[in-house]
Amino acid sequence: MNTPATPSNIAVVGLGYVGCVTAACLSSLGHAVTGVDRDEYKVRSVLNGRAPFFEPGLEGLVRDNVAVGRLRATTSLAEAIADADIALVCVGTPSEKNGNLSLDQLERVISEIAGLLDSRTKPLVVAIRSTVFPGTCEQVVITALGTRAAVVSNPEFLREGAAVRDFMEPSLVVVGGTDREAVQRVAKLYEPLGVTPCLVSLRTAEMIKYACNAFHALKIAFANEIGAFSTSLEVDGHEVMNTVCEDVKLNVSPAYMKPGFAFGGSCLPKDLRALVYRAGRLDLGCRCSNPCCRATTNIWRELLLPYWSCQLSVSVSSDWPSKKIPMIFGKVPSFRCSNNSSAKGATCASLIRISGSMRSMAAIATSF
Ligand SMILES: NC(=O)c1ccc[n+]([C@@H]2O[C@H](COP(=O)([O-])OP(=O)(O)OC[C@H]3O[C@@H](n4cnc5c(N)ncnc54)[C@H](O)[C@@H]3O)[C@@H](O)[C@H]2O)c1
Repeated sequence: MNTPATPSNIAVVGLGYVGCVTAACLSSLGHAVTGVDRDEYKVRSVLNGRAPFFEPGLEGLVRDNVAVGRLRATTSLAEAIADADIALVCVGTPSEKNGNLSLDQLERVISEIAGLLDSRTKPLVVAIRSTVFPGTCEQVVITALGTRAAVVSNPEFLREGAAVRDFMEPSLVVVGGTDREAVQRVAKLYEPLGVTPCLVSLRTAEMIKYACNAFHALKIAFANEIGAFSTSLEVDGHEVMNTVCEDVKLNVSPAYMKPGFAFGGSCLPKDLRALVYRAGRLDLGCRCSNPCCRATTNIWRELLLPYWSCQLSVSVSSDWPSKKIPMIFGKVPSFRCSNNSSAKGATCASLIRISGSMRSMAAIATSF
C-alpha cells in the first residue's frame, strides 16, 4: 500500500459504524480527516484515540492516526467542512415502520451543509456513503445543494466484524455521478488500495448497493434451502454447496446475471418443478425455488402471452427474427434464457422485473 500522491482534506459526517471506519482507514492512507458527529461520546472517543465501538483493528488505526494528527473529530459541522475538499456523508438511514428508508438524518445534514456553502471559498464534493434509494442524491441532495457543490454517490459495502479489512481490501469500489472531476476526485481516495473503482451514473451507484444486498440475502436463503433439502434427504448440504461453488463458469459467475427474459428450455422448469414438488412432500418451504417457478409460469400465462397477442405485429417487425414467430404460438415458447437475451425487448424485461423478480424477493424477505 502506497501513500497517496495527493492527500485530500476530508470531512466524514457521522462517526457511526461506516463513518468511523471510513475516517480511520482514509487517515491511515495518508489523507487529513476530520470526523464530525452530533454524538459527543463518539467525538470524545476518537479525540482520545479510542474507537467508539468494537471492531477488529479499528482502535489501533484511530489511536495511531490521532497521534500523528491525521485524524481529528469535532461536533461542529462548520469546523469539519471549513477546509475540506470532500465531505463523505455517513449518517444513518434506518428503516421506518413500513420498511421505507428514513431520510431524516440525511435531509438534516444536507440542509446544514447547504447553509455553510456560501461562506466557502473552495469547491466541495459531497459524497453520499449512506445507503439511499436510487434517485435520492438527485431529489434530496442536489435539490438542496444546487450547483454550489458537486454530488457523487459512493456506497459502502463493508461487513460488521470485518469492516477494516473490507475497507482496506475492498471487493468493490463504486463511485457514481455526472461531474467527472468530482467522481475522479472521490475515486482517487481509494487509489492506494490498488482497486479500480467502477465509475457509473449516480442512480446506478445507489442501485448497486441494493442489488448487492438483495443478492447476498438471496444467496443465504438459497444455501439454507438447499441445506435443508439436502439434510432431509440425508445428503451433506455443505458438500453440495461447496461443490456448487467450485463451478465458477456457470454457478458463481456472471452467467445468468443479466436482466432480460424469464428462464425456459427443457430442463430448468422441469427440474425446478420436481424440486418444489419433492420439497412440498417433505414439508419444506422451498421459498426461493418455488417463487422462481411460479413467477416464470405466471409471466407466460398472465402477462406475456396476452401482451404478445396484442403487440405481435410490432414485435415481429422490430424485435423477433421471423423464424421464431411460430414458437410464440406454440404450446410453450421454448428457448433457454441466455445472457444476451436483453435484445428481446425492454418492455418484456420490465414486465418480468415487476411480476417475477419482485414476487421472488418479497417471498424471500418474508421467509426471514
Ligand atoms: N453498518 C453497516 O454495516 C453498514 C454497511 C454499509 C452501509 N451502511 C449504511 O451506512 C449508513 C450509516 O450506517 P451506520 O451503521 O454507520 O449508522 P450509525 O447509526 O451507526 O451512524 C450514523 C451516525 O451519524 C450521526 N449523525 C446523524 N445525524 C448527524 C448530523 N446531523 N450531524 C452529525 N452526525 C450525525 C449519528 O449520531 C451516528 O453516530 C447507513 O445508511 C447504512 O445503511 C451501513
